[in-house]
Amino acid sequence: MGRLTGKTAIITGTAGGLGLTTIELFAKEGANVVAVDVQIDLLKENVAKISDIEGKILPFKMDVSSKADWAEVVEKTVKEFGQVDVLVNNAAVIKHGQSLMETTLEDWNLMIAVNQTGVLLGMQAVVPEMQKVGKGSIINISSIGGIAGGEADSFCAGYSATKGAVRSLTKHAAQMLTKDNIRVNSVHPGAMMTPMLKEALKDEANRQIVERSFPLPPHAADPADVAYGIVYLASDETKYTTGSELVIDGGFTSR
Ligand SMILES: NC(=O)c1ccc[n+]([C@@H]2O[C@H](COP(=O)([O-])OP(=O)(O)OC[C@H]3O[C@@H](n4cnc5c(N)ncnc54)[C@H](O)[C@@H]3O)[C@@H](O)[C@H]2O)c1
Repeated sequence: MGRLTGKTAIITGTAGGLGLTTIELFAKEGANVVAVDVQIDLLKENVAKISDIEGKILPFKMDVSSKADWAEVVEKTVKEFGQVDVLVNNAAVIKHGQSLMETTLEDWNLMIAVNQTGVLLGMQAVVPEMQKVGKGSIINISSIGGIAGGEADSFCAGYSATKGAVRSLTKHAAQMLTKDNIRVNSVHPGAMMTPMLKEALKDEANRQIVERSFPLPPHAADPADVAYGIVYLASDETKYTTGSELVIDGGFTSR
């Protein structure tokens, strides 16, 4: 029996990177997973490569900034697996090279829609189902950019702003939902070797910033280093943990 056996999770942004690693770990630990992303073909292709799992993974196309899509995915989850126990709000976008003065209104609004509004809509969609179960765990993926400024995040002002919002929205939701036994926590990765970071590292200056800012070798985390933290927060091992911040950053914010 796995650490998540009997649970059903909705996880966003799962076509690659942290989301893909997380759906695999969840299913290995026994959870049934509804895995969603805008990139449905890539998602299906990657899910097909996953083997040796106890739970089922159901890929589904959705845009997290659409309220109608959230209604559809929750309906589909309940129809397929009966209930919703866990939500991982992981999908996000970043516009590299946009520090404070370079930020365009168009990209600022896109990052708010996906990274911030997407998290709100996700919580609003699943809470009524979790209330029926009598408990639940919501895990919102923020960033060290939601805690601290600094070189490593200064290349995208809008991203940092949305990740700060995810951190404070998590605490508000945690306070609102304790009466329903629904826990809400945030996770704050540092640099993590995913498609999002690989894109940033094409720029030599960014590569040097990452090496300087994250001294613990190999400088950037493996997505599994963070995904194990998500499994922990989803499991009943953390049944007394809510409103907390799990920082997995190779020591970045401890300086
Ligand atoms: N990689 C890092 O260094 C790093 C650091 C700190 C925090 N994070 C956070 O970790 C999480 C995962 O990041 P990653 O590095 O795996 O990113 P990624 O870009 O590799 O993956 C993000 C996924 O989200 C999907 N997505 C984008 N917009 C969407 C939408 N509107 N609806 C549904 N899906 C959408 C993308 O298609 C993609 O598959 C994000 O919340 C990110 O902000 C990443």
